[in-house]
Amino acid sequence: MCGIVGYVGDKEKKEILIDGLRELEYRGYDSAGIAVINSDTLTHFKAVGKLSNLEEKSSSFTSDGFGVAIGHTRWATHGKPNELNAHPHLGKKSYVVHNGIIENYTALKDELIDGGVEFLSQTDTEVIVHLFERELNSGKLAFEAFKATISKLHGAYATLLITKDEPDRIFFAKNGSPMLIGFGDNEVYFASSDTAVIGKADSVYYLEDGEYGFAKGDEVELYDIDGNRKDFTTIPLSGDKLSAQKDGFRFFMEKEIYEQSSVVVDTMMGRVLDKRIEFEEISEDFFDGIESIKICACGTSYHSALSASYLFERIAKIRCDVEIASEFRYKEPLLSSNTLFITISQSGETADTLEALKMAKRAGLKSLSICNVDNSSIVRESDAALLTRAGVEKGVASTKAFATQTLLLWMLSLYVAQKRGVVDSEFLESEIEALRKSPNSLKVESRLHDKIHRLSKRYLHGHGFFFIGRDIFFPLALEGALKLKEISYLHAEGYPAGEMKHGPIALADSELFTIALMPKTLLYDKIKSNVEELSARDTTILAISPEEFELADDFIKTESSSHVMLEFFEMMVVTQLLALEISVRLGNDVDMPRNLAKSVTVE
Ligand code: M6R
Repeated sequence: MCGIVGYVGDKEKKEILIDGLRELEYRGYDSAGIAVINSDTLTHFKAVGKLSNLEEKSSSFTSDGFGVAIGHTRWATHGKPNELNAHPHLGKKSYVVHNGIIENYTALKDELIDGGVEFLSQTDTEVIVHLFERELNSGKLAFEAFKATISKLHGAYATLLITKDEPDRIFFAKNGSPMLIGFGDNEVYFASSDTAVIGKADSVYYLEDGEYGFAKGDEVELYDIDGNRKDFTTIPLSGDKLSAQKDGFRFFMEKEIYEQSSVVVDTMMGRVLDKRIEFEEISEDFFDGIESIKICACGTSYHSALSASYLFERIAKIRCDVEIASEFRYKEPLLSSNTLFITISQSGETADTLEALKMAKRAGLKSLSICNVDNSSIVRESDAALLTRAGVEKGVASTKAFATQTLLLWMLSLYVAQKRGVVDSEFLESEIEALRKSPNSLKVESRLHDKIHRLSKRYLHGHGFFFIGRDIFFPLALEGALKLKEISYLHAEGYPAGEMKHGPIALADSELFTIALMPKTLLYDKIKSNVEELSARDTTILAISPEEFELADDFIKTESSSHVMLEFFEMMVVTQLLALEISVRLGNDVDMPRNLAKSVTVE
């Protein structure tokens, strides 16, 4: 959720922190702060809102020469987004930044207050710095004090701490929230994600849960969960930042919608062969003994999971259940060992999905993750992983992640079908032909974008939107509604078209907007009747279909296609562009919508 950066070395520290935080700002942007210790001098700056406010506030500050520095960009969990609650939190001579939630902070805070400590913020994080200084005051050396502190914390955290007592060290600990250590030229970096250190660090080590230690100069001492000193191997850090820039588009979300058609080519590369699907990441016998599939995910990834359930059952003839990860965690689910547990996550760091995966593993299930970020916590926790290869997704509203996930799950259902021998070669070849056409269905034609731009002005008010679809177009309707509400702040629901008459149709009037997904390849006549029922009640209808529909108030014509998934992708693009254009007209921040964060690493 929040973003953390740390640095030990000789370079200008403020620049390094601000640069890194800019890369992480998508994780949370309620407030930001930095703290630097240069020999004996402690300096910190905090600002509410976007990082630019912090930059402005600290503009005259420079921090050359050897020193240590930590920075943070916040997505508020405990306490309002104000300056006092912004990180780094300050004790008498130490600073701390933290991502995650300290679940027992109330008890720790009460105990510290009883001991005379005064708290400045409403955050859970502040207990860390006061606990640490209490340990220091009891006579412990800084590292001992840090160890004693983290042993008292329950919950998920990634934390960095610096103190005037040891001004050449950064103390770190990771449990449940992501953090890595980067190594450069006589310098050490810390970050929640590698994008913050690309171009700076040459190699990285991704910390495991329970690990902690300190960096001093360019040396790192690392300890495992049992307190044993641990040797570790770094891996080279590749990649450049160009792909993460906007390339002339107004917003990252817009750029990412346009990119879909090319990134799916990467998703398929080396996997979609002439006559079969292959995943070299999965061993030949991976599906042996698997009788059913359970998928857990959140948000957009949950919608791609729902789409996959239609594909697995229809194509691979294997039972597939889907659950929202945050619900799954507490329902005491009955799990059987012949079920494959699949998690889907763009970031690979979503706390609920990660915990669901850990539960399934404890129950002895085999696990597979579908993820966009290699080396992320979910990937590392899974028995096997298939990367979606969407490239960095920066817009908080997920677009290319959904496209690549859905495409990959379609490929996976064919792969499972192949393994189970439930499809013949003719069917496989025709599906492969359709898969290869998907980049074309994902192309954004300027004619289409212009039309959606013009139409969007008619959809800026009303008392709500219903996105309706049937079969696999129902999850797409859910996703279309999620996109719209995330960035327009208008109320939108996704609904199975056939279910409208069981209640929601009571809302129908001219101020209710229905976005009807009417594919020609699947249940066209059924959905047409459902839309007619709404039209009879004067609902304003925007129909998306290859077939003219005379009752529609507005109509977006899609290509006639031979395959249901090609229609799916084309309609997906329409719903994404519609959400984008409505949000732009309403003057909202498309890439950083209010109250949201890109990566939800808290429960
Ligand atoms: O990184 P994940 O795919 O696990 O994230 C899950 C959701 O938080 C995410 O899909 C969220 O719903 C998006 N902002 C939707 O656009």
